[in-house]
Amino acid sequence: MEACVANLVEPGSKVLVFSNGFFCDRICEMAKRNGGTVVRYEKPWGTTWTDAEAREVVLAERPNVVAYVTAETSTGVINSGKALAEAAHEVGALVIGDCVTSLGTMPINIDETGIDAAFSCSQKGLGAPPGLSPITMSPRAMEFIRNRKTPLQSWYLDLKLIDEYYGAQHRYHHTAPISMFYAVREAIAIAEEEGIEARFERHRQNRDAFVAGVEAMGLTMLVENGKRLPALQTPLLPEGITDAGIRKHLMEGDGIEILGGFGQLAGKILRIGIMGYGSRRENVLLLLDRLEKAFKAEGFAVKGSAVAAAESCYAAAPAAR
Ligand SMILES: Cc1ncc(COP(=O)(O)O)c(C=O)c1O
Repeated sequence: MEACVANLVEPGSKVLVFSNGFFCDRICEMAKRNGGTVVRYEKPWGTTWTDAEAREVVLAERPNVVAYVTAETSTGVINSGKALAEAAHEVGALVIGDCVTSLGTMPINIDETGIDAAFSCSQKGLGAPPGLSPITMSPRAMEFIRNRKTPLQSWYLDLKLIDEYYGAQHRYHHTAPISMFYAVREAIAIAEEEGIEARFERHRQNRDAFVAGVEAMGLTMLVENGKRLPALQTPLLPEGITDAGIRKHLMEGDGIEILGGFGQLAGKILRIGIMGYGSRRENVLLLLDRLEKAFKAEGFAVKGSAVAAAESCYAAAPAAR
């Protein structure tokens, strides 16, 4: 994230950030630290923008850089980028896309969407250890970087230098963490063996089964159907139930770690990552069973069986794993 922002934002750049969660706030902060003037287009957390809204705001603001988060992990919402990127390119802006939670869990189609600078991580959808941030730059982004008016303040994040290291020149820049490269290479090989479409489908089916389960219990999802991430679910907490209470049962019982909301959603939601290798039928069923018990123990009147609802969801989609 910081490499993308530092390289594409110059002092005086106007940076339009599509803002509907915690991680876009981080992009705003980095853009400011790099001398950018930040304009935020805000949407309530848990919701997203329409294509028409995205287009309108980009054309009205005419920024130098547009940034958005493809999969907002703090709320569980999918943000679409095609309309925003199309409008950005019409006004000559470059597009930064946070792909941290989307890579390997849902289609991103970076070039087709029009993202110029994308960054992700090793530890979520790829299921490798944390430590590397894969990034990709469009030719347009590299051209901008090579012709910046002001030199980059950061030496280690200078993508011109990094390009010379990883490119044909192979000019020394830093000591590459090669054990991590092997780990990520293996994670990608595993994803390739599964097939990327099958992997996306697995995430979708496990999401749908999980949602069917929590809805059967009588919970409501924060994010509307059709906008929910395949990798992270955010049920709303009913009146009188705290995330700390639920989390304690899960952690003490089976060592299952889930999270609560933060920022605007603190105390209002659970955040449950079901991603990478962990996105599996047996995990979803175990989690639902323990969630049901935790909610009962906390005094919530559970309506119906979460596990039974998830099972019938899987039965309707026989390819689910
Ligand atoms: C959408 C998104 N962007 C950025 C980050 C930051 O990643 P890291 O914690 O690896 O720095 C996260 C982490 O959860 C994230 O979910």
